[in-house]
Amino acid sequence: MKFRKNILCIGAGYVGGPTMAMIAYKCPQYRVTVVDINPIRIAEWNSDDLPIYEPGLGEIVKATRGKNLFFSTDIEGGIRDNDIIFVSVNTPTKTFGAGAGMAADLQYWEKTARQILQYSESTKIVIEKSTLPVKTALAMEKILNYTKNSISFDVLSNPEFLAEGSAIKDLENPDRILIGCQDTKSGLAARETLVEIYANWVPREKIITSNIWSSELSKIVSNAFLAQRISSINAISALCEKTDADIAEVSKAVGMDSRIGSKFLSASVGFGGSCFKKDILNLVYLCQHYSLHEVADYWESVVRINQYQQERFILNMLTTMFNTLAGKRICLFGFAFKANTGDTRESPAIYITKRLLEEKAEIVITDPKALKNAKADLTGMEGQVSFVEDPYKAAEGCHAIAILTEWDVYRNLDFQKIFNTMTKPASIFDGRNIIDHKRCFDIGFNVYPTGKPALTHS
Ligand code: UDX
Ligand code: ADP
Repeated sequence: MKFRKNILCIGAGYVGGPTMAMIAYKCPQYRVTVVDINPIRIAEWNSDDLPIYEPGLGEIVKATRGKNLFFSTDIEGGIRDNDIIFVSVNTPTKTFGAGAGMAADLQYWEKTARQILQYSESTKIVIEKSTLPVKTALAMEKILNYTKNSISFDVLSNPEFLAEGSAIKDLENPDRILIGCQDTKSGLAARETLVEIYANWVPREKIITSNIWSSELSKIVSNAFLAQRISSINAISALCEKTDADIAEVSKAVGMDSRIGSKFLSASVGFGGSCFKKDILNLVYLCQHYSLHEVADYWESVVRINQYQQERFILNMLTTMFNTLAGKRICLFGFAFKANTGDTRESPAIYITKRLLEEKAEIVITDPKALKNAKADLTGMEGQVSFVEDPYKAAEGCHAIAILTEWDVYRNLDFQKIFNTMTKPASIFDGRNIIDHKRCFDIGFNVYPTGKPALTHS
């Protein structure tokens, strides 16, 4: 069968995989290929056990794989045979040299740009999907158009705003699609080609365009604003705990102001995920680069409050459990950075486990989807950690439960049954405010919510 467009995506991760599956699903007339340097990841995409857990993803991969969606390790062939190339490789925070701990590490991204140049035999549209520092597209264009032959490249910025756990819903019904391009004849034509792809299922008025730098910056700023809301409410949760105010009531009252809005105002143990911290640090680095030190400090404080919230959670455990956790068994309910995903990148659970181990506690971790990643995250960490799938079994004999992920399954557990098997006094630290605190208190637990007065049996 001859396809109307041949699309390639380099990088089969959390962004590339689901996004391409959605394009293939919505556009049977296009052939979509996803390539990755990691053969294990590609083998998983070609199996029934996909490398990422995302509600609804399995169904759309099943409906398209082998028909118009293909996963492969043949990067060279993929570049040669496709005219539209999405780049969705990882851009982690740099861990070495200038900008270490802040700037984006662009080595994977640059390697990809050079590969595209090396293997291209015809003109291509290259689309940045990965979140990248402002002006990266310019660097990409410089690398690609360095050799003056007849092959030319147009680089577009098309940041992805999907959130994990709701990726399929977000891709199917996005708030907006943003496409940035150069204001040249070929840049504008490339933009139209990409608009045409999304217009297969996204209403035209939701597809917005901008200059390429605005597009790159908008992605980082969106994440910074979202993270800022969480740090704001978490900062106030600390104040609530001192003043007998209730953060849920404050959130509700504040969020009902239509200028503020109610979303992203749930106090928690802190935000995690691969994007927020990385993107804010990137923004901070960018501001510092332009000597905007006050602006840099302002955004950096969002990350500082997030760290403070996690440390506060640990110190609360320590002080309420008689100032020693040594030898105590503590059960972590949830290890994923949020519900409905197995992803643990930057999950507060990692830091909390590390700190609890420093206090010489024994840790039992339970999570419906993230135990495999949790084991990988904790390799080499000294101390006693065990992994138990069943939350009832995990809590047996423990002195405390710390709820770190807002999985629905934890809302409706039989806490009486759990209490009966725990060491007394038994405590629950609810880092997500998802359980019925009064009921747990009545059962006999000492209950420590986030941003609400503690309920304790003195
Ligand atoms: C985020 C952005 O939402 C998305 O648009 C972007 O493309 C990628 O980064 P994601 O990291 O998948 O998505 O998750 P998100 O739902 O934003 O949650 C991030 C973290 O904030 C999680 O740890 C979550 O538990 C926490 N959070 C979220 C809160 O603590 N309180 C809230 O009210 C909302
Ligand atoms: P994201 O959350 O941004 O999708 P991931 O880390 O989940 O990030 O995925 C990025 C993917 O890109 C990984 O599977 C990684 O193996 C892949 N990758 C990195 N560099 C290259 C490259 N040069 N060519 C192909 N794939 C690459």
